[in-house]
Amino acid sequence: MATLTKVGTVKDLLPGTAKVVEIDGHEIALYNVDGRYFATSNLCPHQGGPLGEGTLEGNTVVCPWHAWVFDVTDGTSPVNPRVRIPCYPVTVQGEELFIRL
Ligand code: FES
Repeated sequence: MATLTKVGTVKDLLPGTAKVVEIDGHEIALYNVDGRYFATSNLCPHQGGPLGEGTLEGNTVVCPWHAWVFDVTDGTSPVNPRVRIPCYPVTVQGEELFIRL
């Protein structure tokens, strides 16, 4: 059964930024899109680049290695409909952020 895991606080993740957290050996990228929080796998499906270290532009993240782009709200690629990254729901409780793997 999936459980909620605390991944930080809202103060750790300012609007327009991303960060990487590790949960049970899984690298997860967290994003703040204008006060809305999203989480995806940190691994770019191209060659494993760290998406959480990429640039967040609106609701898309640009992989820092070769600039593939993903919509962090649903994991889709605006460029290649065959590519998708896993997404995880983010819950905000007070000031704390949780995700469900
Ligand atoms: S590893 Fe992400 S674009 Fe190449």
